[in-house]
Amino acid sequence: MCSEKSEKYKAFSPDGQLKVQFHLENSKPFYALWKGEKLIIDSSRLGFKMNNMPDLSGNFEVVETSKSSKNKTWEQPWGEEKNIKNHYNQLQVQLYNKADNLHLNIYFRIFNDGLGFRYQIPTQTSFDYAEIKEELTEFNFAKDYSSWWIPGDPDSYEHIYNNTNISKIDSANTPVTIQAGEDSYLSIHEAALTNYAGMRLKRQSNKKHSLKCDLIPWPDGLKVKADLPLSSPWRTIQVASEPGGLIESHLILNLNEPNKLDDMSYVKPMKYVGIWWGMHIDVNTWHEGPRHGATTEEAKRYIDFASKHNIKGLLVEGWNKGWESWLSGNNIQDYTQPTDDFNIEEVVDYAKEKGVYLIGHHETGGNIPMYEKQMEQAFKYYNKLGVHAVKTGYAGQMKPEGIYHHSQFMVNHYRKVVELAHKNKIMIDAHEPIKPTGIRRTYPNMMTREGVRGMEYNAWSEGNSPEHTTVLPFTRMLAGPLDYTPGIFDILLKQHDAIRKKHAGKNYRRRVHTTLAKQLGLFVILYSPLQMASDLVENYEDHPAFKFIENVPVDWEKTHVLNGQIGDFITIARKDRNSNNWYLGAITDENPRKMDIKLDFLEKGKTYEAIIYKDGENSHWKENPTAYNIQNETFKPGDKLSLKLAPGGGAAVELKPVEE
Ligand code: NOJ
Ligand code: CA
Repeated sequence: MCSEKSEKYKAFSPDGQLKVQFHLENSKPFYALWKGEKLIIDSSRLGFKMNNMPDLSGNFEVVETSKSSKNKTWEQPWGEEKNIKNHYNQLQVQLYNKADNLHLNIYFRIFNDGLGFRYQIPTQTSFDYAEIKEELTEFNFAKDYSSWWIPGDPDSYEHIYNNTNISKIDSANTPVTIQAGEDSYLSIHEAALTNYAGMRLKRQSNKKHSLKCDLIPWPDGLKVKADLPLSSPWRTIQVASEPGGLIESHLILNLNEPNKLDDMSYVKPMKYVGIWWGMHIDVNTWHEGPRHGATTEEAKRYIDFASKHNIKGLLVEGWNKGWESWLSGNNIQDYTQPTDDFNIEEVVDYAKEKGVYLIGHHETGGNIPMYEKQMEQAFKYYNKLGVHAVKTGYAGQMKPEGIYHHSQFMVNHYRKVVELAHKNKIMIDAHEPIKPTGIRRTYPNMMTREGVRGMEYNAWSEGNSPEHTTVLPFTRMLAGPLDYTPGIFDILLKQHDAIRKKHAGKNYRRRVHTTLAKQLGLFVILYSPLQMASDLVENYEDHPAFKFIENVPVDWEKTHVLNGQIGDFITIARKDRNSNNWYLGAITDENPRKMDIKLDFLEKGKTYEAIIYKDGENSHWKENPTAYNIQNETFKPGDKLSLKLAPGGGAAVELKPVEE
């Protein structure tokens, strides 16, 4: 191969700080990324190994390159930030393999907050269908940097994060967060995952600090099967000088298509309570019987509470027939048949009267053929009842056999559900989902999802450490909203002790590993447009701290990360979209912390009344988790707010401008 052109093609971010370079080496495509003078991603391979056609990996020449730019601000219908600036420079490279007569296009978009690149496999002279055996994309980090990652489990993201050097990663699901020296933080993920397999990253055995794209396979080992032309998801490398910069980045959303929905009338962020925690702590059961949670009476009790406290949604799990079969390996449920003790019409009517909306629930147990047979009817059924939000679940043994949760088959299933839900004016909260990749921009009825080791783990496992939620904002949350379900006030699970003693078995002594004030802080820190107040409502009654949950919004105009270190602490301030109020959340890991926060984000010339919910003098997640104080103070912009967080503690602050 001597037709080698060593020409290098470059593009810079609009602020000139980031540089991506594309080149061919022995006719194989490579890219590299710099932040200022610093090389972050060294020369890294691009391309594909194919099954049904020659590989798209080498023998290439560059036939054309072109550059373009965009600078446009768009508005999110709901979210952490109302106005999003989409500003990038694009480099498009067209490659041709003459010997095999094959084309491959690669698009690089470089923003101030990172790089996205995607492949486009055009329809070829001899092929209009592609089977991808392997995507060759590499991330060759310049050094063996420190990283935060969860294992590359093809079925679940519900893991504790590891913090190791890259060389200690075996396989990891994205987002993977990396600290590249003192002043550089990176997150590797993907955007616009459509009709493709989910990407995890595998460390290359021959290279110490190099990760390679490792797509989740079909049962036959192939990764992607699709008609041409085919666009891959964007491979994303977010770059920031401080860890909080990753959270303020909108690169993932910017790399997705604009809103496709014609009708947005039913898409409404809200808080919700649920007949839910009771099942996880064994006070109730999902299936019918003496401890059945989803009864008409219980639903009305929850509706009364929600209505009194400005909570718009009520999730009811275990409302339908078939729960006995869940986790049996053959989950068969009926999504249009309420249980005998749950009069769904009566519940919906009662809720409506009280200004509360039922959130439906479809637990598929992973049995996709069973669910796909029913789902159209099931969504129609809810639509007819006036139910506009559904939580879906995929907890259980996958069917068809050999299919993984994060495979192309499931990526397509999850999308089908979102589209069908829209046809029936339904918002989706997906549990055991595919990870978020910014699809909410295109389908804003795709509200939130789990894909995280959430609150439930505290009920029936050793639980989540005080550190866990100080890692999530810098890792999982970079991908998108998370239904973590904060808000447990009965930290030691004392309520209904006798029932739990009898039924919880080895889980009887489980507990939550935070202070109560930290639970409040999570409502600001962990973003979800459907945000659950997850405890039993009896644990909120007569609790002054519940006022914060009652007041905290779920839809924001602005978000500022005020401080933070991955796995140690974080403070976020967010401005309500529907008022001039600001809300601030601060959380710490197992270490106590004092912090002074400069309130320079407040509107000039205004005075703010603050209600501060904070740990007590002797609060401690372990010994004294439920002690807290509520304090009133007045602030002007630029004033200093001093917070003292207990070990495993936190704080939540509401700041309201004083009306003149
Ligand atoms: C697991 C989900 O994460 C949880 O929220 C739900 O209650 C159960 N599956 C039952 O569907
Ligand atoms: Ca789960």
